[in-house]
Amino acid sequence: MAANKKLALVGYGKMGHLIEQLAPEHGFEVALRLDLDENRAAGGIDRQAFAGIDVAVEFSTPEAAPQNLKQLARNNVQAVSGTTGWSDHLKEVSQEVEEAGTGLVWSPNFSVGVAVFRKLVGLAAELLANEEAYGAWAWEIHHDTKKDAPSGTLLNLARTMQENGYRRNIDISSNRAGKHPGTHEIGFDSSADTITLRHVARSREGFAQGALKAARWILDRKGVYTFEDVLFGAEPREK
Ligand SMILES: NC(=O)c1ccc[n+]([C@@H]2O[C@H](COP(=O)([O-])OP(=O)(O)OC[C@H]3O[C@@H](n4cnc5c(N)ncnc54)[C@H](OP(=O)(O)O)[C@@H]3O)[C@@H](O)[C@H]2O)c1
Repeated sequence: MAANKKLALVGYGKMGHLIEQLAPEHGFEVALRLDLDENRAAGGIDRQAFAGIDVAVEFSTPEAAPQNLKQLARNNVQAVSGTTGWSDHLKEVSQEVEEAGTGLVWSPNFSVGVAVFRKLVGLAAELLANEEAYGAWAWEIHHDTKKDAPSGTLLNLARTMQENGYRRNIDISSNRAGKHPGTHEIGFDSSADTITLRHVARSREGFAQGALKAARWILDRKGVYTFEDVLFGAEPREK
């Protein structure tokens, strides 16, 4: 694909570098890179730096993301955010995006496989909602540099179970070790049997490809969306 759109990276760590590498496949040229040194307290996000930028892809830290996303909206920049652990600030970020009339896609997980997995988990939770003999667990493991635990994806999966009518306790646990790119497991157990649903990420590439797909999709849209809107149909909303 010809590189005809200009992309800014806000957060230039492991994900930022991978997105830069894959950007040309999605028709993007990376024209700006902001890491902590260039963007303390979102100070690197202004009209001058972002002149000519079509979309920003934000993978930073839970502490930095809300301020980065608000500052991007105030400067009229379309954005995709994959940073996890900031969902308590979603309301205020969404408000800024709506007021600015820009577009934002956010997701704690940009893997197509995880989006499908979440639908399967929702269905299993619905089918077992009234089966009192079953107890449920939710577990994940990631590399030892991941800062938030449990992962945003695991919390989202547990919320999906509840939204699908599963009202009993869900025992949630996490591990951080080695280099795991991310495994999420949802299980249901009774004295008769066990059902285990598991998604295993093989590398970080799927997340980067998904974020770039979302970056193309948001170029000419306004409002707040999740990755599932990109994949399965769009309704602007907070989730
Ligand atoms: N949604 C998904 O599919 C997905 C997939 C993988 C990871 N993630 C999440 O994405 C985030 C980043 O992951 P990663 O693996 O790339 O982490 P990482 O390698 O630690 O990179 C994060 C980068 O953000 C920089 N940073 C800190 N404050 C900043 C600021 N104010 N402005 C701009 N950059 C700033 C850090 O700079 P310094 O190193 O100088 O501090 C670092 O280079 C995490 O929250 C992770 O959980 C999401």
